[in-house]
Amino acid sequence: MRDNTKKMNEILRLSSELNTIQDLDILLEKILLQARTFVSADAGSIQITEGNQLTFSHVQTDSLQRQLPPGQKLIYTTMKTDINRSSISGYVASTGEILNIRDAYSIDPDAPYKFNSSYDIKSGFKTLSMLTIPLKTVNGGILGVMQIINKMDEKGKIHPFNAEDELYVLHFANTASIILQRAQMTRALILRMISMAELRDPKETGAHVNRVASYSVEVYEHWARNHGVAREDIEKNRDILRMAAMLHDVGKVAVSDLILKKPSKFTEEEFEIMKSHTWQGATLFKFRQSEFDEVAAQVALRHHENWDGTGYPGRIDVETGDPVEKDQSGRPVALRGEEIPIMGRIVALTDVYDALSSRRVYKAAWRESDVLNEIKYQSGKKFDPELVDIFFDTLPILRSITSRYPDSE
Ligand SMILES: [Fe+2]
Ligand SMILES: [Fe+2]
Repeated sequence: MRDNTKKMNEILRLSSELNTIQDLDILLEKILLQARTFVSADAGSIQITEGNQLTFSHVQTDSLQRQLPPGQKLIYTTMKTDINRSSISGYVASTGEILNIRDAYSIDPDAPYKFNSSYDIKSGFKTLSMLTIPLKTVNGGILGVMQIINKMDEKGKIHPFNAEDELYVLHFANTASIILQRAQMTRALILRMISMAELRDPKETGAHVNRVASYSVEVYEHWARNHGVAREDIEKNRDILRMAAMLHDVGKVAVSDLILKKPSKFTEEEFEIMKSHTWQGATLFKFRQSEFDEVAAQVALRHHENWDGTGYPGRIDVETGDPVEKDQSGRPVALRGEEIPIMGRIVALTDVYDALSSRRVYKAAWRESDVLNEIKYQSGKKFDPELVDIFFDTLPILRSITSRYPDSE
C-alpha cells in the first residue's frame, strides 16, 4: 500500500471509525480485515484465549472466499489449539513473542513449535508466510493471538512479511487487545451486578437466573428461526439475551428490604413499590453503550407486561416512573400484544415457568402437570400464544436445563 504518510493518515481515519462501532464481533472482524489489507495478506485469523486453549473466533481467507457464490460465507467448525509451545499460535500465546515465519512447511526442525497442516488439508488452502502476534493486556496477560497469512503481490505470488509489516500488524493487534479487554471488563461488571441482585432478593438465586436465562435463549432461538432471523444475528442475540435475562430483576436493588423479604402478601401500596423494580432496572442501562444495554433495559422494563394488556409498568417515563398515558383509573396504560418487545415477552414466560416450578419460602413447587396447565391457560392472556407453542415444542430441552441448574439446599 502506497507511501507512509498516506498509511498513517489511513490508520488515524480507521481508528476513529472503529470508535463508532460498538459490537465486539463486528469490531474484531474489521480490525482483522484492516490488518490484512495493510500488509496485503490473503488470510488471517483472531484466536481468543479460553482457559488453556485458543479458539478461532474470526477467520478470513480471500482466495477461498472468491471460490464461493457471492454472499455465502466460509464455514469453519470451531477449531481449538492447546496453549503450549508445540504449535505456532500456542507458542506465541504462551511466550508472548512475535513469530514471523517465511515458510510454514520448512520451519527449522529444532524449533519447539510445528506447523499444523490439518486446516490446509481440510480447506485446500496452502499456507506459506505467517505472522503471529500476541494480543496482550496492559499487565502482560495474553487475550489471544492475531495471525496474518500469505503476503501476496498483485500477481498472486507469496512473499515473507518484513519488519514494517510487523509494525503495522502490531498496531492492529494492540487495538484488538484494547477492545477485547473492554468487552471482558463489561462482562465482569455484569456478573457482579447479577450477584448483587441475588444478595438483595433471596428469591433471585443464581440457579433461578441461570435457568431463566437458558430457557429464554432456547425459546428465542426457535422464535427467531420461525421469523427468518439471520443465523449470525441469532448467534449474537443469544449471548446478549442470556446476560439480559439474568438481569431481569436487577431493579430490585432499589426496592426496600422490608418489602423484598416480607414473607406474607403485599399490601396494595407495597405492591406499587414492588412494581417499580421494572423501570428502576431499566434506568441502570440508560446510557445505551451497546446492543446489550438496549436488550437489558427492555427485559427489565417489560418482563411483567401481559399479552392481553393487563400487566405493568405500561406507558411510563422510565426516568421517573410517572405515567405518560393514563387509563380511566389514572394508572399507566399497559402495553399489549406485539407492542411488548419480544425479549420482554420471552422472559415474562420463562420467569413465571421457573417461579411456579420452584419451591419458594411462601409456596411449595407446583406439580409439573399443574405448571403446564397454567401456562396453556395463560396463552393469549398473560403470554404470547406463539411463545406458548414454542414453549411446548421445546419442553424436553427446557427440562434438561432445569436439571442442569438445580436449587442448592
Ligand atoms: Fe420481576
Ligand atoms: Fe425472576
